[in-house]
Amino acid sequence: MRDLLIETIHLDKIYGSGETAVHALADVNVTVTAGEFIAIMGPSGCGKSTLLNMLGALDQPTHGEVWVAGENLAKLKNVDDFRARTVGFVFQLHNLLPTLSALENVEVPMQGRIRSAKERRERAMHLLTLVGLAPRARHLPNQLSGCQRQRIAVARALANTPQLVLADEPTGSLDSQSGAEILSLLGELNRSEGTTIAVVTHDPRVAQVTQRILRMQDGSIVEDHRVSDPLEEDLRALAFSKLGEVILDPTDAPMQEITAEEEVILRKLIERLRR
Ligand SMILES: Nc1ncnc2c1ncn2[C@@H]1O[C@H](COP(=O)(O)OP(=O)(O)OP(=O)(O)O)[C@@H](O)[C@H]1O
Ligand SMILES: [Mg+2]
Repeated sequence: MRDLLIETIHLDKIYGSGETAVHALADVNVTVTAGEFIAIMGPSGCGKSTLLNMLGALDQPTHGEVWVAGENLAKLKNVDDFRARTVGFVFQLHNLLPTLSALENVEVPMQGRIRSAKERRERAMHLLTLVGLAPRARHLPNQLSGCQRQRIAVARALANTPQLVLADEPTGSLDSQSGAEILSLLGELNRSEGTTIAVVTHDPRVAQVTQRILRMQDGSIVEDHRVSDPLEEDLRALAFSKLGEVILDPTDAPMQEITAEEEVILRKLIERLRR
């Protein structure tokens, strides 16, 4: 059996109290084995970032437990040390330091963890090569494209060889083509480095690089889906799209343009895919 890397047990997160309380996570039970690449999807406000923050010990649960790499996060003696050792973060905005070069940005998290400056430099260079940006090592962030900056942020997340990379909408501020590049880069890293990756995204193309998609709604995981063949994934994307909704809705006007028979076939197909 493969190692369990993440386990949440009856995880609840409630922000605020009384009438204004928001139940951001409601009884989330999820396990992830080492080496998996999971995507977390769902509408805005459903708790995706909250869940990711819990996994990275950036926030504390209200109830329940989070275990990552064999550690109960509520019992950590040194949270900073856990984060630096075990988790790499990639956010929607890359947060690179503007006065440091690409190479220096990747070195930052290594400070205090890799003693030799030469080793830090070599490792940073290796990571830049891995994300395809070695030729830009000396550039400052504002001399790079949005996609290149996000690649640097991915390299920085890998600085201390984390077991887990958590990425919260890493493609959110990128155009469609760049977004696809970053997703496939994460997929490559998952395969070549064996890094476990959890990515929050609204991009349905993530199904082409992930093995598993968790869908959340109102603080709960409502679907835990193993990705199978690409055609089926595309059909599923269709089923959950606006068009899928329209096909299921018997009162919607656009559907009146097809025959009743065709409509029945389509509706059956969409219903089956959504199960
Ligand atoms: N610090 C906070 N204080 C109060 N409520 C919060 C706080 N952070 C998040 N929430 C609420 O918790 C719920 C879940 O928020 P979360 O940020 O996890 O959603 P999300 O799925 O990441 O949404 P998005 O796709 O917009 O990023 C939302 O209703 C949000 O308003
Ligand atoms: Mg969010």
